[in-house]
Amino acid sequence: MNLPIQAYVFDAYGTLFDVASPVRRHSQALGERATLLAETWRDKQLQYTWLRTLQERYADFEQVTAQALDFALERVGCDDRGLREQLLQAYATPQAYPEVAAALQALRGRGVRMAILSNGTERWLRSAVAANALEGCFDEILSVDSLGVFKPHPAVYRLAEQALQLPAGAISFQSSNGWDAYSAQAYGMRAVWCNRSGQPAERLPATPVHMVRSLDELLALRG
Ligand code: LAC
Repeated sequence: MNLPIQAYVFDAYGTLFDVASPVRRHSQALGERATLLAETWRDKQLQYTWLRTLQERYADFEQVTAQALDFALERVGCDDRGLREQLLQAYATPQAYPEVAAALQALRGRGVRMAILSNGTERWLRSAVAANALEGCFDEILSVDSLGVFKPHPAVYRLAEQALQLPAGAISFQSSNGWDAYSAQAYGMRAVWCNRSGQPAERLPATPVHMVRSLDELLALRG
């Protein structure tokens, strides 16, 4: 039997915060290279988190994000150091997706616990939350930084269980990253894949219990 949901835990980048927004802010300077830069930056950032975890050579998300940006800038042929600094600074204050604040506030009204569980550093996560005036929405902001491994290492999902002192089955975990949602489900959480870009199902163990297109759809889900 399913446990009642006692906490909603959210992935940060791509789920609450729009990872394309830092590049969008500087799209004029980048011109037609903007889309390729944004996609390459995100792809490399994730690859580096997985690779460094496998190599047992952790470096924090700020460093990994900077290194991924250097790869992406070189790929699109941009060597503007000033723009590099501006893009990195913009990553500390990404824009939340439009429905996020209202959806979080409505869930908050149900009296459940709320948390972020992210690869981000605590510094960047607090900065992103503050930039979008979401401080009142969360009981916990949990960063992998204390563990020295990135998602989808099971230790990351365990961190939420331990911090909230709840069994995984009482936690609803929301992520727009399919692989993250599947991994949380495999760990034992009740995962909701916020499939913002209409991706096909992942071919990975443990299909999330729900799929939504945006976080406001969470409010109508049962169990
Ligand atoms: C995070 C990445 C996976 O916030 O988006 O953990």
